[in-house]
Amino acid sequence: MKLYRASNYEALSRIAANLMAAQITLKPDSVIGLATGSTPIGLYDGLAAKYAAGDLDFSRVTTVNLDEYRGLPAGHEQSYSHFMHSHLFDRINLPKDRCFLPDGTCADAEAECRRYEALIESLGGVDMQLLGIGHNGHIGFNEPAEAFARDTNCVTLTRRTLEANQRFFRSIDEVPKQAFTMGIGTIMKARKILMLITGADKAEALAAAFCGPITPAMPASILQLHPDVTLVADEAALAQYHV
Ligand code: GLP
Repeated sequence: MKLYRASNYEALSRIAANLMAAQITLKPDSVIGLATGSTPIGLYDGLAAKYAAGDLDFSRVTTVNLDEYRGLPAGHEQSYSHFMHSHLFDRINLPKDRCFLPDGTCADAEAECRRYEALIESLGGVDMQLLGIGHNGHIGFNEPAEAFARDTNCVTLTRRTLEANQRFFRSIDEVPKQAFTMGIGTIMKARKILMLITGADKAEALAAAFCGPITPAMPASILQLHPDVTLVADEAALAQYHV
């Protein structure tokens, strides 16, 4: 694993934007796996700024998002589709028909999982997958479990995840209980992983993921087996990382 130590969130976001921009510059038709959550917002601002400055071209890029809530109506302001449009897609020249997310409104969950997995395959796989991490070590929405999920799947969110994500909704009851997510296997097939971790509240998860045993009880720990992981983390998140 390659580690970039950032002094704070601004530095982390700048490093991450530079790394993703480099990927797109070197391979203009990259397939980029994207993530939601508050962590990548600074990176998305950085990418939008590079585009606005004329330094980055997204016209040949394709994106696939990690996950999407199940059951939110299309256009719901807390859907991950809406998040991606407002934080990135609507600010850059990424063709609107080249950015893909699971369809959270699809009634047939199994069919949607198969469709999304096949879509990623048909694109030739992911060149660079962006990841954040949940407090319980989840990546995408792959919650702690007894086994690693291989393909895109529909998961029931844990109480801890519902609580963490309720800040975006009026109450915890409004947080969708299920989500579609790329599987651990899907994520591990990406040729490169770019993981961002910020803040003292993620220090325990970071240490468990990268210094602890590889176990589906800590989903991010599987990344120890990936051949090309770049971790960009700030000092607060690295507080318990001792190797
Ligand atoms: C959600 C997303 C994850 C993200 C996590 C952490 O559960 N599905 O992809 O990594 O939240 O979010 P944050 O960056 O806001 O802490």
